[in-house]
Amino acid sequence: MDPRSEVLLRQRELFAGRVLLAGPPADDLLGQLPEALTWNWHAGHQQRLQARFAGRNSYGTEVPEIEFDHAVLFLPKSRELTDYLLNALAARLHGGTLYLVGEKRAGIERAAKQLAAFGQPRKLDNARHCQLWQVQVNQAPKAPDLQALAQPFSLDLADGPLQVISLPGVFSHGRLDRGSALLLEHLDDIPHGRLLDFGCGAGIIGAVLKRRYPHSEVVMLDVDAFAVRSSRMTLAANGLDAEVISGDGIDAAPGQLAAIISNPPFHQGVHTHYQASETLIERAAQHLSPGGEMRLVANAFLRYPPLIEAHLGHCQTLANADGFRIYRARRG
Ligand SMILES: C[S@@+](CC[C@H](N)C(=O)[O-])C[C@H]1O[C@@H](n2cnc3c(N)ncnc32)[C@H](O)[C@@H]1O
Repeated sequence: MDPRSEVLLRQRELFAGRVLLAGPPADDLLGQLPEALTWNWHAGHQQRLQARFAGRNSYGTEVPEIEFDHAVLFLPKSRELTDYLLNALAARLHGGTLYLVGEKRAGIERAAKQLAAFGQPRKLDNARHCQLWQVQVNQAPKAPDLQALAQPFSLDLADGPLQVISLPGVFSHGRLDRGSALLLEHLDDIPHGRLLDFGCGAGIIGAVLKRRYPHSEVVMLDVDAFAVRSSRMTLAANGLDAEVISGDGIDAAPGQLAAIISNPPFHQGVHTHYQASETLIERAAQHLSPGGEMRLVANAFLRYPPLIEAHLGHCQTLANADGFRIYRARRG
């Protein structure tokens, strides 16, 4: 059980009724709180929760249109996203209670200050390196308009400007990541056919691919509903057409791909997690057509080449700059 869920269960009487759990982990919490419902923006969590607790989970970027009396927000990483989610939930909770739970190292103490906009916040518990906060919503805000919170920016690229629309919580919100910038400079000679932008974020790589290879079908995939929506907005802002899929990992991608192009996810903390990227490399061959290519940008310290050679074939380094590398490998 996730420690944040354990903290909620220490006061389970508070969460006995119709409570909406926003952004919960995919653990057994719903098994312990039979009337609770969830709102997820992580496609993997949604899928795993639906498999065990069918009909009690909603997925997307907006508060689901369902009845609830109280809500618990599981603190996300991004401050802007926290702000949107708290306001979106509080707008539906006039007279109800909003809870916020999160790990201390994730910044729960600071985030709890944002509750003061709705009433008098109270710390209810402090255990398992987490805190649980509560506020009675006396001043319900107006529901926030997510489109209005989007940060548009323009990239001056070699083949013309690209408009990017990035939503709160999306990778590299409001700016271009250095790794992605290097990848954009190395998109020559991509095989024609169906192209996948794996982990599309705000949609920069996929949009550039579609503009550069208009006769290729472009598919973009991300686990995060806010990224999927951003990618759709970026495509629309540039008059481009591509399919954007919500899904967890390469298994959610179609087959017969001419190329997989990606700035794949990894999380650097006490430990470096790159499960989704490892699985991508291990299973890329199953999704690529014969002769299909995988092209990745990665921090130079991530030891991808041996993994790529073990699962796909010869790994060529196309570029090495600013601590990033571009790798290319073809399915034989
Ligand atoms: C390094 S970012 C790259 C974003 C974008 N392509 C760019 O270059 O700006 C990696 C992206 O992978 C997504 N991601 C993380 N885990 C994933 C998974 N299991 N399946 C699909 N996408 C995932 C993240 O949400 C994030 O948008």
